[in-house]
Amino acid sequence: MSNPKERILVIGACGQIGVELTLALRKIYGNTNVVASDLRNEHELLKGTGPYVSLDVMNKEMLHVLVIRHNITQVYLLAAILSATGEKNPGLAWHINMQSLINVLEIAKEEDLHKLYWPSSIAVFGANSPHQHTPQHTIIEPSTVYGISKFAGERWCEYYHKHFGVDVRSLRYPGLISYKSAPGGGTTDYAIEMCYEATENGHYKSYIAENTYLPMMYMPDAIRATIELMETDAKNISLHTSYNLNAVSFSPKEIAAEIKKHIPGFTISYDPDYRQEIANSWPQSIDDNLARKDWGWKPEYDLAAMTEDMLKNLKKKR
Ligand code: NAD
Ligand code: SER
Repeated sequence: MSNPKERILVIGACGQIGVELTLALRKIYGNTNVVASDLRNEHELLKGTGPYVSLDVMNKEMLHVLVIRHNITQVYLLAAILSATGEKNPGLAWHINMQSLINVLEIAKEEDLHKLYWPSSIAVFGANSPHQHTPQHTIIEPSTVYGISKFAGERWCEYYHKHFGVDVRSLRYPGLISYKSAPGGGTTDYAIEMCYEATENGHYKSYIAENTYLPMMYMPDAIRATIELMETDAKNISLHTSYNLNAVSFSPKEIAAEIKKHIPGFTISYDPDYRQEIANSWPQSIDDNLARKDWGWKPEYDLAAMTEDMLKNLKKKR
């Protein structure tokens, strides 16, 4: 059960996940108990729903003051540079993804925070990992700076849990599909772009080849997974690196066919770019048995239900 006394800080609250997660947490814990923060201006959907603070998570002193001043007991750290953007500036991606996590882990240790959430990704896996039903524990040789930072981050989470008792929890999200807040530069964003372009122009040129399968998840499932993991009794959490999490796997050709059921005139062409190599190195599907066993994870949305809901909501937005 959620504790009404919790005071939550969401860092990176204006991003693709942050907006929806902040709104979901505010429903559970009460608007005033969830402080949203980001480098960017407050997202339109957050305005008027609760406290908002401008924050650069790289500034540890500023973060520390914020945690003390707002009596924060839990932090959700979502600020990061994603896979495709990260390859354009590897040094910056490493610096931001690592230092933000270390800053938050240190403050969680110093202030004895109740819980910390930090997401990892399917990007921890590499070309030598099994590509089908990729197991929780297997060869982990990421090839992108994003994947390397996520793998190192997982090790840091386990380290702070083991040595300092920080209750840090994590999920290896697949590619997340959503319509409320724009995605931030990932390889899997093609599927979101395709839905937008289908409703706006009836055509999409995909930077991922037609038969490339990747693990994906609709945002409502991802938000529910995050909250279920965070609300699970600590004694049931057997993993303090990051849980594999599965929902659906599809290729550009398959989601295009699904879109055509709703927009018959939709057309697609393919022009793979540097992101194809990233996609080729990632799993095609994920084995998430440990998440199912430890805290009862079960996805709800399949490709058909996800596409129908995405298109319905994108049409409403136009
Ligand atoms: P996003 O890029 O949409 O959002 C990140 C937010 O962090 C942005 O609003 C950005 O302004 C903010 N931010 C960046 N630098 C900051 C800083 N120095 N201080 C404060 N805020 C800063 O990313 P997202 O898709 O919402 O992803 C959130 C987390 O989930 C990331 O760790 C990402 O790696 C992980 N993840 C996302 C996906 C996905 O498909 N979206 C999949 C796997 C893992
Ligand atoms: N969706 C993310 C990306 O493509 C996976 O972590 O970067």
